[in-house]
Amino acid sequence: MRDVIAIDGPSGSGKTTVAKLIAQEIGYRYLDTGALYRTVAFALRKNMVDSDDSDERIAEVLSQNRIMFQDGKVFLNGVDVSDTIRSTEIDHYSSVFSARKVVRDFLLDAQRDAARRGNLVAEGRDTTTVVFPGAQTKIFLNASVEERAKRRYLQYRGQGITISMDEAKKSIIDRDARDAGRDIAPLTISSDALVIDSSVLSIEQVKESILEYLKKSTSAGLRK
Ligand code: DC
Repeated sequence: MRDVIAIDGPSGSGKTTVAKLIAQEIGYRYLDTGALYRTVAFALRKNMVDSDDSDERIAEVLSQNRIMFQDGKVFLNGVDVSDTIRSTEIDHYSSVFSARKVVRDFLLDAQRDAARRGNLVAEGRDTTTVVFPGAQTKIFLNASVEERAKRRYLQYRGQGITISMDEAKKSIIDRDARDAGRDIAPLTISSDALVIDSSVLSIEQVKESILEYLKKSTSAGLRK
Protein backbone atom coordinates (compact mmCIF):
# COMPACT_ATOMS: atom_id res chain seq x y z
CA MET A 1 0.00 0.00 0.00
CA ARG A 2 1.21 3.49 -0.86
CA ASP A 3 0.72 6.55 1.32
CA VAL A 4 -2.96 6.89 2.25
CA ILE A 5 -4.73 9.87 3.79
CA ALA A 6 -8.13 8.61 4.95
CA ILE A 7 -10.93 11.07 5.72
CA ASP A 8 -14.23 9.92 7.22
CA GLY A 9 -17.26 11.85 8.35
CA PRO A 10 -21.02 12.09 8.14
CA SER A 11 -22.99 13.33 5.20
CA GLY A 12 -22.47 17.04 4.53
CA SER A 13 -19.33 17.38 6.65
CA GLY A 14 -17.42 18.71 3.63
CA LYS A 15 -15.10 15.72 3.22
CA THR A 16 -15.58 15.34 -0.53
CA THR A 17 -14.62 18.94 -1.30
CA VAL A 18 -11.73 18.93 1.16
CA ALA A 19 -10.37 15.55 0.03
CA LYS A 20 -10.35 16.73 -3.59
CA LEU A 21 -8.52 19.94 -2.68
CA ILE A 22 -5.91 18.13 -0.56
CA ALA A 23 -5.30 15.57 -3.30
CA GLN A 24 -4.81 18.34 -5.85
CA GLU A 25 -2.49 20.27 -3.59
CA ILE A 26 -0.15 17.38 -2.79
CA GLY A 27 -0.46 15.49 -6.09
CA TYR A 28 -2.17 12.37 -4.74
CA ARG A 29 -4.98 10.47 -6.42
CA TYR A 30 -8.43 10.95 -4.98
CA LEU A 31 -11.07 8.34 -4.15
CA ASP A 32 -14.67 9.20 -3.28
CA THR A 33 -15.89 5.91 -1.78
CA GLY A 34 -19.40 7.34 -1.34
CA ALA A 35 -19.58 7.70 -5.13
CA LEU A 36 -18.98 3.93 -5.41
CA TYR A 37 -21.80 3.19 -2.94
CA ARG A 38 -24.03 5.63 -4.79
CA THR A 39 -23.28 3.94 -8.12
CA VAL A 40 -24.05 0.52 -6.64
CA ALA A 41 -27.40 1.89 -5.42
CA PHE A 42 -28.07 3.40 -8.84
CA ALA A 43 -27.28 0.10 -10.61
CA LEU A 44 -29.48 -1.86 -8.18
CA ARG A 45 -32.41 0.53 -8.57
CA LYS A 46 -32.06 0.44 -12.36
CA ASN A 47 -32.52 -3.31 -12.07
CA MET A 48 -35.58 -2.88 -9.82
CA VAL A 49 -33.79 -4.21 -6.73
CA ASP A 50 -35.34 -3.03 -3.47
CA SER A 51 -34.10 -2.96 0.09
CA ASP A 52 -35.77 -6.25 1.05
CA ASP A 53 -34.36 -8.23 -1.88
CA SER A 54 -32.04 -11.14 -1.15
CA ASP A 55 -28.24 -11.08 -1.04
CA GLU A 56 -28.27 -13.48 -4.01
CA ARG A 57 -30.30 -11.07 -6.12
CA ILE A 58 -28.00 -8.16 -5.18
CA ALA A 59 -24.87 -10.22 -5.92
CA GLU A 60 -26.33 -11.30 -9.26
CA VAL A 61 -26.99 -7.71 -10.37
CA LEU A 62 -23.60 -6.49 -9.14
CA SER A 63 -21.81 -9.26 -11.01
CA GLN A 64 -23.37 -7.97 -14.22
CA ASN A 65 -22.24 -4.37 -13.71
CA ARG A 66 -18.83 -2.76 -13.91
CA ILE A 67 -18.17 0.18 -11.58
CA MET A 68 -15.02 2.26 -11.83
CA PHE A 69 -13.78 5.47 -10.20
CA GLN A 70 -11.23 7.42 -12.22
CA ASP A 71 -9.96 11.00 -12.20
CA GLY A 72 -12.71 12.21 -9.89
CA LYS A 73 -15.50 10.61 -11.94
CA VAL A 74 -17.46 7.43 -11.43
CA PHE A 75 -18.48 5.14 -14.29
CA LEU A 76 -21.15 2.46 -14.56
CA ASN A 77 -20.43 0.13 -17.46
CA GLY A 78 -18.29 2.83 -19.06
CA VAL A 79 -20.91 5.59 -18.70
CA ASP A 80 -20.10 8.62 -16.52
CA VAL A 81 -22.82 8.71 -13.82
CA SER A 82 -21.09 11.23 -11.53
CA ASP A 83 -23.96 13.73 -11.72
CA THR A 84 -26.83 11.23 -11.97
CA ILE A 85 -25.96 9.67 -8.59
CA ARG A 86 -26.38 13.02 -6.75
CA SER A 87 -30.13 12.80 -6.22
CA THR A 88 -32.34 12.57 -3.14
CA GLU A 89 -33.40 9.05 -4.18
CA ILE A 90 -29.78 7.85 -4.35
CA ASP A 91 -28.97 9.67 -1.07
CA HIS A 92 -31.52 7.36 0.50
CA TYR A 93 -30.78 4.09 -1.31
CA SER A 94 -26.98 4.38 -1.07
CA SER A 95 -27.34 4.62 2.69
CA VAL A 96 -29.81 1.70 2.76
CA PHE A 97 -27.84 -0.67 0.48
CA SER A 98 -24.49 0.22 2.05
CA ALA A 99 -25.64 -1.56 5.24
CA ARG A 100 -25.62 -4.89 3.33
CA LYS A 101 -22.54 -7.08 3.70
CA VAL A 102 -22.84 -8.27 0.12
CA VAL A 103 -22.47 -4.65 -1.07
CA ARG A 104 -19.59 -3.80 1.27
CA ASP A 105 -17.68 -6.96 0.27
CA PHE A 106 -18.23 -6.15 -3.40
CA LEU A 107 -16.60 -2.71 -3.02
CA LEU A 108 -13.78 -3.51 -0.60
CA ASP A 109 -11.24 -4.75 -3.16
CA ALA A 110 -11.96 -1.93 -5.58
CA GLN A 111 -11.17 0.61 -2.84
CA ARG A 112 -7.98 -1.12 -1.70
CA ASP A 113 -6.88 -1.53 -5.28
CA ALA A 114 -6.88 2.26 -5.68
CA ALA A 115 -4.18 2.47 -3.00
CA ARG A 116 -2.00 -0.05 -4.86
CA ARG A 117 -1.95 2.21 -7.89
CA GLY A 118 -0.56 5.33 -6.18
CA ASN A 119 -0.62 7.62 -3.15
CA LEU A 120 -4.20 8.31 -2.24
CA VAL A 121 -6.61 10.62 -0.46
CA ALA A 122 -9.70 8.49 0.26
CA GLU A 123 -12.90 9.68 1.88
CA GLY A 124 -16.05 7.98 3.13
CA ARG A 125 -17.49 6.41 6.27
CA ASP A 126 -15.10 3.53 7.02
CA THR A 127 -11.89 4.44 5.20
CA THR A 128 -10.08 5.11 8.50
CA THR A 129 -11.41 2.00 10.24
CA VAL A 130 -12.07 -0.84 7.80
CA VAL A 131 -10.79 -0.10 4.31
CA PHE A 132 -7.43 1.45 5.26
CA PRO A 133 -6.86 0.74 8.97
CA GLY A 134 -3.13 1.18 8.32
CA ALA A 135 -3.50 4.61 6.69
CA GLN A 136 -0.63 6.94 7.62
CA THR A 137 -3.01 9.85 8.21
CA LYS A 138 -6.57 9.65 9.50
CA ILE A 139 -9.00 12.54 9.73
CA PHE A 140 -12.56 12.59 11.04
CA LEU A 141 -14.45 15.58 9.70
CA ASN A 142 -17.61 16.57 11.51
CA ALA A 143 -20.11 19.45 11.59
CA SER A 144 -23.39 20.18 13.33
CA VAL A 145 -26.60 18.75 11.89
CA GLU A 146 -27.88 22.29 11.21
CA GLU A 147 -24.78 23.27 9.26
CA ARG A 148 -24.72 20.04 7.27
CA ALA A 149 -28.42 20.36 6.44
CA LYS A 150 -27.82 23.92 5.24
CA ARG A 151 -24.97 22.77 2.98
CA ARG A 152 -27.07 19.94 1.52
CA TYR A 153 -29.98 22.32 0.97
CA LEU A 154 -27.76 24.80 -0.90
CA GLN A 155 -26.11 22.02 -2.90
CA TYR A 156 -29.50 20.74 -4.08
CA ARG A 157 -30.77 24.21 -4.87
CA GLY A 158 -27.62 24.71 -6.94
CA GLN A 159 -28.43 21.53 -8.86
CA GLY A 160 -32.00 22.74 -9.47
CA ILE A 161 -33.48 20.12 -7.08
CA THR A 162 -36.38 21.48 -5.02
CA ILE A 163 -36.10 20.58 -1.36
CA SER A 164 -37.11 22.39 1.84
CA MET A 165 -34.69 23.02 4.70
CA ASP A 166 -36.75 20.65 6.90
CA GLU A 167 -36.50 17.87 4.31
CA ALA A 168 -32.73 18.40 4.02
CA LYS A 169 -32.39 18.19 7.80
CA LYS A 170 -34.55 15.07 8.05
CA SER A 171 -32.56 13.37 5.30
CA ILE A 172 -29.29 14.14 7.12
CA ILE A 173 -30.64 12.83 10.45
CA ASP A 174 -31.99 9.62 8.83
CA ARG A 175 -28.73 8.92 7.03
CA ASP A 176 -26.66 9.64 10.15
CA ALA A 177 -28.75 7.11 12.07
CA ARG A 178 -28.40 4.45 9.38
CA ASP A 179 -24.70 5.04 8.60
CA ALA A 180 -23.66 5.09 12.26
CA GLY A 181 -26.17 2.51 13.49
CA ARG A 182 -25.55 -0.36 11.07
CA ASP A 183 -23.86 -3.59 12.19
CA ILE A 184 -21.13 -3.69 9.56
CA ALA A 185 -18.52 -0.92 9.25
CA PRO A 186 -20.58 1.79 10.96
CA LEU A 187 -19.40 5.38 10.89
CA THR A 188 -17.17 5.72 13.97
CA ILE A 189 -14.25 7.89 14.98
CA SER A 190 -11.00 5.95 14.77
CA SER A 191 -8.99 6.42 17.99
CA ASP A 192 -5.96 7.60 15.98
CA ALA A 193 -7.85 10.13 13.84
CA LEU A 194 -7.51 13.89 14.03
CA VAL A 195 -11.04 15.21 14.62
CA ILE A 196 -11.95 18.48 12.93
CA ASP A 197 -15.30 20.22 13.43
CA SER A 198 -16.00 22.18 10.27
CA SER A 199 -19.21 23.84 11.54
CA VAL A 200 -17.65 27.28 11.78
CA LEU A 201 -14.70 26.78 9.44
CA SER A 202 -14.51 27.54 5.74
CA ILE A 203 -13.40 24.79 3.34
CA GLU A 204 -10.13 26.71 2.93
CA GLN A 205 -9.55 26.69 6.71
CA VAL A 206 -10.24 22.95 6.94
CA LYS A 207 -7.85 22.33 4.06
CA GLU A 208 -5.14 24.44 5.71
CA SER A 209 -5.48 22.66 9.04
CA ILE A 210 -5.14 19.25 7.36
CA LEU A 211 -2.10 20.41 5.35
CA GLU A 212 -0.56 21.74 8.57
CA TYR A 213 -1.16 18.38 10.25
CA LEU A 214 0.44 16.58 7.28
CA LYS A 215 3.48 18.85 7.49
CA LYS A 216 3.87 18.16 11.20
CA SER A 217 3.65 14.40 10.76
CA THR A 218 6.25 14.60 7.97
CA SER A 219 8.70 16.55 10.11
CA ALA A 220 8.13 14.11 12.96
CA GLY A 221 9.28 11.40 10.54
CA LEU A 222 5.95 9.64 10.54
CA ARG A 223 5.58 9.57 6.77
CA LYS A 224 7.62 7.74 4.19
O1 DC B 1 -20.44 10.22 1.13
P1 DC B 1 -21.80 10.04 0.44
O2 DC B 1 -22.90 10.84 1.05
O3 DC B 1 -21.70 10.27 -1.03
O4 DC B 1 -22.15 8.49 0.66
C1 DC B 1 -23.37 7.92 0.25
C2 DC B 1 -23.75 6.76 1.16
O5 DC B 1 -22.82 5.68 0.98
C3 DC B 1 -23.73 7.06 2.65
O6 DC B 1 -25.01 7.40 3.15
C4 DC B 1 -23.23 5.80 3.29
C5 DC B 1 -22.52 5.05 2.21
N1 DC B 1 -21.07 4.97 2.38
C6 DC B 1 -20.59 3.97 3.18
O7 DC B 1 -21.37 3.22 3.76
N2 DC B 1 -19.24 3.79 3.32
C7 DC B 1 -18.38 4.62 2.72
N3 DC B 1 -17.05 4.42 2.87
C8 DC B 1 -18.86 5.69 1.92
C9 DC B 1 -20.22 5.85 1.79
